[in-house]
Amino acid sequence: MNIVTNQDNSTLKAIRGQILSFKADPFLSDDPESCIDYFKDGTAVIGNGKIIDVDHTQSIKKRYPDITHTEQYSDDALIMPGFIDCHAHYVQAPMVGSFGETLLDWLNTYTFPTEAMFADKEHAAKTARIFIGQLLANGTTTANVFATTFESSVDAFFEESERAGTRMICGKVLQDRNLPDSLKDKSAEESVETAERLLKRWHGRGRQLYAVIPRFAPTSTPGQLSLAGDLYQRYLQQGVYMHTHLDESEDEIRWVKELFPDAENYTDVYRRFGLLGDRSLLAHCCIVSPAEWEMIGKAGASALHCPSSNLFLGDGQFRWWDAVAHNVAFGIGTDIGAGTNFSVLRQLGEAYKVGMLHARGIDALRSFYLATRGGARALRLDDRIGSIAPGYEADMTVIDLKPDSFTEWRLQSVTDIFQKLFVLQTLSPAKVIKATYVAGEKVFHSGNGL
Ligand code: GUN
Ligand code: ZN
Repeated sequence: MNIVTNQDNSTLKAIRGQILSFKADPFLSDDPESCIDYFKDGTAVIGNGKIIDVDHTQSIKKRYPDITHTEQYSDDALIMPGFIDCHAHYVQAPMVGSFGETLLDWLNTYTFPTEAMFADKEHAAKTARIFIGQLLANGTTTANVFATTFESSVDAFFEESERAGTRMICGKVLQDRNLPDSLKDKSAEESVETAERLLKRWHGRGRQLYAVIPRFAPTSTPGQLSLAGDLYQRYLQQGVYMHTHLDESEDEIRWVKELFPDAENYTDVYRRFGLLGDRSLLAHCCIVSPAEWEMIGKAGASALHCPSSNLFLGDGQFRWWDAVAHNVAFGIGTDIGAGTNFSVLRQLGEAYKVGMLHARGIDALRSFYLATRGGARALRLDDRIGSIAPGYEADMTVIDLKPDSFTEWRLQSVTDIFQKLFVLQTLSPAKVIKATYVAGEKVFHSGNGL
């Protein structure tokens, strides 16, 4: 056996290869190159699921002469922090790619009937396993996830995440009006009691984190929003989140105006009920007025950009430069099942195109920041995931720079690593993820068929 035990009895191992990670936010820097750590031949030392050290291989060899267990990748691979999917619905995995309709019809026609099936715990457990398997196969190690109404749909997800060892955020969806009875909470009080019970059961248990989740303003009564806001405020200091949708489509915004005529705007609905603050995670934010950006920025809330979903449903277009101007952290979400695939890499390609509709495509250095440390920042987890640096949890993905013969041929003439990554996010080749590590353990490698 090649594994050594160091003096304090923890098992160390090393992962060697080309390593890229971010240590600062390139959207806020005049010198984006200074925001990265890049080692052409680097080694990350891992113990007890965390990064102990990372440096040029020669330096690591000197500092850790006793490590004999090394997993080595060639120049044709790039080791990065695991990707972070900032917004997805695991309960919508069974309906990805359902044809047609804009947001509100799509919810009624496909989403609500699909989610109603999650009253069955076995169905939920099976779907959660498939969903997490797909994340890992796509290099994603953390996701911020909607379950649905049923308590068991939340348990099923966290149980699967715990089994996989992944750091995930999830919670019960609070929804007590404007949807079918099969999915509707029986009462605002009971729904929030259930949420609190789940919060106590799961928040901070291992790597699991809890979010209070009113689906969006139209599917909650003012009474439910108020109780949800109270719950979030009571647990905010313990790191609990509020996760919802905001300003995705014109019809939705019109409906919110009808339902909440006294609110200044859609964002103000959440603010009035105590749902806007640090750790408020706002999916979409496509059609956001200047006053709303102001409110979001002041509150310290984050925006979650879901480009393939917005294109699929014909929503508005996320304006990342507005987020930056208002000091709003943002990350990238697949938004399965309105999003069309599980790949954060493919979302980067779509985000570029959405930006280009306004001649503001995000370059590869910044987009890979968003996929990793930027996503962690948006989720307020940038002190523990999203970077390959000492003390961080050892969640990593290994990108294959020669995933197929065409991509290999295309990349022959490219030397700059970010130019290569831009080609990869644009092509998003099928076998681009070579391996995925969760807490230092390899949980996926291409060919193991998840
Ligand atoms: N707004 C409210 N619910 C949903 C949902 O499930 N998906 C999307 N894309 N938007 C929503
Ligand atoms: Zn969503």
